[in-house]
Amino acid sequence: MGNIRKFVVTRRKVREISFKPNSCVMDFVSEINRLRKEKNAVILAHYYQIPEIQDIADYIGDSLALARRAAETTANIIVFAGVHFMAETAKILNPERKVLLPDLEAGCSLADSCDAEELARMKAEFPDHKVLSYVNCSAKVKALSDVICTSGNALKIVETFPKDEKILFVPDKNLGGYINRETGRNMKLWQGSCHIHDMLDAEKVLKLKQAYPEAKVIAHPECNPAVLQVADFVGSTAAMLNFIVKDSSREYIVATETGILHQMQKTAPGKVFHVASNQESCACNDCPHMKLNTLEKLYRCLKDETPEIILDKELIDKARRPIETMLSLS
Ligand code: 13P
Repeated sequence: MGNIRKFVVTRRKVREISFKPNSCVMDFVSEINRLRKEKNAVILAHYYQIPEIQDIADYIGDSLALARRAAETTANIIVFAGVHFMAETAKILNPERKVLLPDLEAGCSLADSCDAEELARMKAEFPDHKVLSYVNCSAKVKALSDVICTSGNALKIVETFPKDEKILFVPDKNLGGYINRETGRNMKLWQGSCHIHDMLDAEKVLKLKQAYPEAKVIAHPECNPAVLQVADFVGSTAAMLNFIVKDSSREYIVATETGILHQMQKTAPGKVFHVASNQESCACNDCPHMKLNTLEKLYRCLKDETPEIILDKELIDKARRPIETMLSLS
């Protein structure tokens, strides 16, 4: 009897609690809608953002699509719902526009792994190497690069170099290793990685595969080589999304950040997705940086026009060249 009463009270509490955030969400949504119209602002969001932000964005995409959108926009303000290097890329492509990031602390372990001064030293050590940098790097690292690539165009970009070109690939050793294996290149690899992708465990993926034998494994190329080896498909977030829409299977084991599941469930509602994580029942493939952005912070940054991405002109000019080279090649 005591237990039953407790259950009823608990359920009522849960309903009360879940009602309040919903009403807040509604307010932020209408305020954001009003402000973006009033200020001629565009909201760009990455697939790893929380569902509420994905749903309110003007454009949602992988880092390549978002860089393209940023290059094309005519909006006065770009609100970049993503992480710092993505907003920086938008600023580099739009020096005259205001670029806002809802939480300035939203960084990237991969970008942080590559220090520009260290890269400059390495360039001096290997002067005959071209520098191909994954877009997940700082503006200073971009400024030292010959070309930028994203996970969506990396294979294509590397093939624009002559076969015998000496290349230094920074900062992701996993993506770089994947490109080397796929293209037969021997690029020198910076030893950085994305903590979220690098710690996904191939053994756990195989256990899931045993539990769901019909499921295909789809993985982001930032995953470690053991996970990529057991994957049926490897691609950027947008490529993974395209794959599950076109593919005839019903079930997938998804080896990337969990934010992508929102679009997967929306675009293929009849399909089933199992998250590959490195520990059972842990949410460790939620990127803590991506998840710093909330609807409330997005609203506040649009209202107050801060935090803003500020970069000096000389740095912008140097960093823009390799990004524009990438956009023209892909
Ligand atoms: P995408 O190029 O697939 O958007 O990946 C970006 C990223 O940061 C993955 O961790």
